[in-house]
Amino acid sequence: MIEPAKGGKAKDWRVGAPPIPGPGLVIPPLDPALGAPGWATLEEVAAAVAGCTKCFLAQGRTNVVPGEGNPNADLVLVGEGPGQTEDQTGRPFVGRAGELLTGILAAIGYSRDQVFICNVVKCRPPQNRKPLPDEMSACSPFLEAQLRILRPKVILALGATAAEALLQVKRSLTDLREKVHSYRGTPLVVTYHPAALLRNPNWKKPTWDDVRIARQLVDR
Ligand code: URA
Ligand code: SF4
Repeated sequence: MIEPAKGGKAKDWRVGAPPIPGPGLVIPPLDPALGAPGWATLEEVAAAVAGCTKCFLAQGRTNVVPGEGNPNADLVLVGEGPGQTEDQTGRPFVGRAGELLTGILAAIGYSRDQVFICNVVKCRPPQNRKPLPDEMSACSPFLEAQLRILRPKVILALGATAAEALLQVKRSLTDLREKVHSYRGTPLVVTYHPAALLRNPNWKKPTWDDVRIARQLVDR
């Protein structure tokens, strides 16, 4: 399904792709009269993250994981926070969930370095627990700035934490999937977190549908 079809040739993601769903929640654009706050480049954001001690998560980290990828990416993926492998390497989604994510991206025709991959919090929470509300809000200026600088065509929120941070609501994935939300003018699609797919393979099919919706939005 998510893997290339047997026989070597990858199946065309368009075959059987669901139609683009209707609109969802709207996070309005920032008032341009206020001016663009803070950092001007992804490198400046990464440098600020590297020196950040704004929340408790700074204490347990080995490396910060600001995010990586194409600065001109059409598609930006947002996860929850670094896990163990990410903390050790300073790179997002390089553990088991990351391998799955890389496969999902390949199935819609993207290599990892064509997109940009980042997380809601840039430091690893202890025991991979969900980041706390004050940690997410302490870290949110970095994600906000990354998205403002990147100006992608589409944002894909991976899991409920990313959806909650970006859309500023606490709702189930069932409620948030199958809609095209708007984050400061950019279409935003919500899907399952790849780590959840490792636990529950039944969610692979709906995820495959969601990423194909996101992929179509890039072309729209
Ligand atoms: N899970 C996430 O949410 N982000 C990562 O970078 C790795 C695993
Ligand atoms: Fe700073 Fe974010 Fe790391 Fe907290 S998680 S210390 S806010 S970079």
